[in-house]
Amino acid sequence: MKIWSALVRSCSFKNMRLGNPDLKEYTASDYTDHIRHFHKLFKQKKISTFLEFGLGKGTEYFLQHCDHVISVELLCSDDRSWFEYCQKKLINYPHWKGVFVQGSDVIAQADRLALEEIDPSSKVSYLDELRLTCDKILAQFSLDDLELVFIDPGIHLRGDLVNIMLKKNIPIIAAHDTKVSEKVYGWNRIIVPSDYQAFKFVKGLGLTLWVRKDRLDVIQLLQKTNCKPCHVRKRH
Ligand SMILES: C[S@@+](CC[C@H](N)C(=O)[O-])C[C@H]1O[C@@H](n2cnc3c(N)ncnc32)[C@H](O)[C@@H]1O
Repeated sequence: MKIWSALVRSCSFKNMRLGNPDLKEYTASDYTDHIRHFHKLFKQKKISTFLEFGLGKGTEYFLQHCDHVISVELLCSDDRSWFEYCQKKLINYPHWKGVFVQGSDVIAQADRLALEEIDPSSKVSYLDELRLTCDKILAQFSLDDLELVFIDPGIHLRGDLVNIMLKKNIPIIAAHDTKVSEKVYGWNRIIVPSDYQAFKFVKGLGLTLWVRKDRLDVIQLLQKTNCKPCHVRKRH
């Protein structure tokens, strides 16, 4: 991370914010319909380090609005084809770093159960393994540097990933598709600690952000948008 940061800093002029992207292009696809929501925040605030689980066309937008972007491709197979395709597309962004991780068998088992809308925790012990996998990924970076973690991976254990990031005290956590497939993604398993405030964008497939309450700058920006703050519910 340190060498990479130095390299990125030396190329920082390449990392200037570009003009308004064509949001329609992103909204046209389910994969990237979260960009129109993120843009309400990002047009006013630049994020320092953005780490995403799941990468795709939207990664380029994030690269245009963040100082550093880390994309984690967490899959339950060793199929690197999508990751390598994106790697080639993003080669000219010195402030991008890609990480490919193959989840273990127990994570794959939990993922298959989630896809069948079965709460995986009722059948397999996978949470420690998932936590350990995240620990190994994040150990490559300085946790203090991560400003926003975005959960949009190919695997379906998204609610669990949100919980893990909440426990890690990440300032801003976001997840895509929060309006759909509650049992598949495990949104109902999310437990929001009292020091976080949740904001939901409900248009499209839904984007939810959990913001640490000391990040008043972000909270104030989100309060000016059309998202719905969630005041009292402990669960997502
Ligand atoms: C929902 S996508 C992530 C999209 C990303 N957050 C973005 O903004 O573009 C999640 C995962 O789906 C898979 N994926 C996305 N687009 C794909 C494609 N066109 N072909 C194959 N796999 C794809 C990749 O494994 C990716 O990490």
